[in-house]
Amino acid sequence: MANKKVSVFFCQECGNETSKWAGKCPSCGAWNSLVEEVIDKTSVKSRAKVSDVKPTKIIDVTASNEQRISTNIEEFNRVLGGGIVPGSMVLVGGDPGIGKSTLLLQTCQKLCLSGVNVMYVSGEESLQQIKIRADRIGKFNDKLDLLCETNLDTIKAVVEREMPTVLIIDSIQTMFNESVGSAPGSVSQVRESTSVLMEIAKGKGIAVFIVGHVTKEGTVAGPRVLEHMVDTVLYFEGDRHASYRILRGVKNRFGSTNEIGVFEMRDTGLEQVKNPSAVMLDGRPENATGSIVTCSMEGTRPILVEIQSLVSKTAFEIPRRMATGCDYNRVNLLVAVLERMRDAKANRSCGIFLGRSDVYVNIAGGIRINEPAIDLAIALAIYSSEKDIPVDEGTIVFGEIGLSGEVRSVSMAEQRVNEAKKLGFKRVIMPMSNIHSVKNIDGIIVVGVSNIKEAVDAISR
Ligand code: TYD
Ligand code: MG
Repeated sequence: MANKKVSVFFCQECGNETSKWAGKCPSCGAWNSLVEEVIDKTSVKSRAKVSDVKPTKIIDVTASNEQRISTNIEEFNRVLGGGIVPGSMVLVGGDPGIGKSTLLLQTCQKLCLSGVNVMYVSGEESLQQIKIRADRIGKFNDKLDLLCETNLDTIKAVVEREMPTVLIIDSIQTMFNESVGSAPGSVSQVRESTSVLMEIAKGKGIAVFIVGHVTKEGTVAGPRVLEHMVDTVLYFEGDRHASYRILRGVKNRFGSTNEIGVFEMRDTGLEQVKNPSAVMLDGRPENATGSIVTCSMEGTRPILVEIQSLVSKTAFEIPRRMATGCDYNRVNLLVAVLERMRDAKANRSCGIFLGRSDVYVNIAGGIRINEPAIDLAIALAIYSSEKDIPVDEGTIVFGEIGLSGEVRSVSMAEQRVNEAKKLGFKRVIMPMSNIHSVKNIDGIIVVGVSNIKEAVDAISR
């Protein structure tokens, strides 16, 4: 076994490895992100005798219906796909201070109260700090062990001795292996630490939660590497200044992705929000122009959100466009569609001119939505602000908009309409092509539109 230490460069944004330094990462194009690390390229001889390895026939594999451990936090269970899978590895990412440690400590509390052995390893806080936080959250019992440690060899030894059912590592960026030369938090350390934890998870059947910090670009540091290795990736997001937090599943080998859990940060920790639509619409202005409610599907759950837009005369050479909570490029596209709007019946153009106006779009409540089904609401909010027409408060709108101004069908229209009805909305403007799927719902007026002009007419009435 030759001992071969070599110097390589890792991109801190995407984890790409190169042998030479460059100003720009050849993989993701980030500037000044390559950092030198010394890694051990010692070749490891395969331990298994090749002749011993045999594939298994799929019909011989018995899939034991995996036993899930409930976290007793319904919102968290939902995002995990029904509970914690033993031996799985879950990454919880998020901005500093968003509440990752709080969420996991609360999970520890619920788990230990239901008799599950949990070990919480912190590399960031002292025992006293954890205790202070724990006191705010509530009562604990002796099923929870705390360990303040950053050396993974030590952690591994302790875990193998104590054999908890659930292990929590807060955070992966503070952990280090003596065998890796570089500093904690560097790509090779994070990668190595994750693989050691992976061994613990898969080898011993211990469910491992790891906390990962997010870079300014919004991905977990040493990101791609981590996301590939773990079974489930959850992001904890929300406006740090607002109290609502959203836990979003972006990858899940044991359940559907895009599920979200909604929480509110209180002084006693995180509280579950059972009716997120009501929360998102809380404080909605009455009879205001540029405000419109839409329904977005977050995983299997419909959520109503308010889209706000403000159009004002620009003071700049090039007008400003701003999007908070939705895709900036999508807003630009919708502005262009509004400008080129056509009245098909009269066969003439009826676009609105926004070339000398600043356009701001905001999704209230600090939630981020990437679903194209909110297109129509964004476009109508802009129109409503520009024309100074308030949209009736009892109306909700959804639909995707195509480049020629057509309103295209969206998935799960029925759930969206039902959610709107549940929250007391009286009218829904939606794609004509989806109408057939909602014809059994009564108690709400359904207006089908096939292009943006018809939608504009529907709100102007
Ligand atoms: P924390 O879990 O430490 O964030 P992270 O681990 O993601 O960095 O969250 C800390 C924030 O939450 C901090 O600003 C204080 C606030 N907080 C409460 O408002 N109430 C509470 O009961 C707790 C424990 C924290
Ligand atoms: Mg923390």
